[in-house]
Amino acid sequence: MVIKSVTLDQVCGPTSKLPVHQLPEIALVGRSNVGKSSLINCLVGRKALARTSGTPGKTQTVNYYLVNDEFYLVDLPGYGYARASKAAQDDWAAMIERYWQTTQSLTQICQLLDIRHKPSKEDLQMYEWILAGGGEPMVVLTKADKLKRSQVSKAVKEIKAELEKVAVCHTDLAGQALHAPEMIVFSAKTGDGKDQVWKAMEG
Ligand code: GTP
Ligand code: MG
Repeated sequence: MVIKSVTLDQVCGPTSKLPVHQLPEIALVGRSNVGKSSLINCLVGRKALARTSGTPGKTQTVNYYLVNDEFYLVDLPGYGYARASKAAQDDWAAMIERYWQTTQSLTQICQLLDIRHKPSKEDLQMYEWILAGGGEPMVVLTKADKLKRSQVSKAVKEIKAELEKVAVCHTDLAGQALHAPEMIVFSAKTGDGKDQVWKAMEG
């Protein structure tokens, strides 16, 4: 993907109206701190376009990044931040809910999972929820640079097995059981997997 332009086009908080437009949207979901904003920066080759932080709960708004005037990358606030207040968690749930209800051009959901950990209860709920809505997320395993090469394939297998348990409870339009998707091993630090993510997004 050749990046000709990228801008933070809209930032929407809990009370702001979400935009409705014709351009395709690719939404990024995942727990707080998993690396959603870092993935965006890496993809578009800008260090600090999307604000990132070592402290979970950095992105608390729905942020629309317009790429090449052709499509949006939508950075959604992360879930599963245990130390967030009840009010903040309610805001999060309401915003996500509103996003799903409003968007009319969502073409792909990109679900991010930390390669170092088994998917959390919330990760699996999100995955289930996407499948139940008739979608199949593209799954990106983040922070691969934090594992030794020899640990990566074991981690991929373990995560895949967890997703598989959820996937087989769902069927496709032909009534066939679903399976866990191929997953992209990614690092925002080294750029590993970047081309694969773009390729999947272009598809
Ligand atoms: P919220 O906005 O809180 O939902 O988090 P987020 O998912 O946007 O995470 P963010 O991109 O802010 O990254 C969280 C922390 O993880 C930051 O300190 C990043 O530098 C770090 N990080 C993200 N991706 C990677 C990666 O691939 N490798 C390494 N080593 N660190 C990463
Ligand atoms: Mg973020």
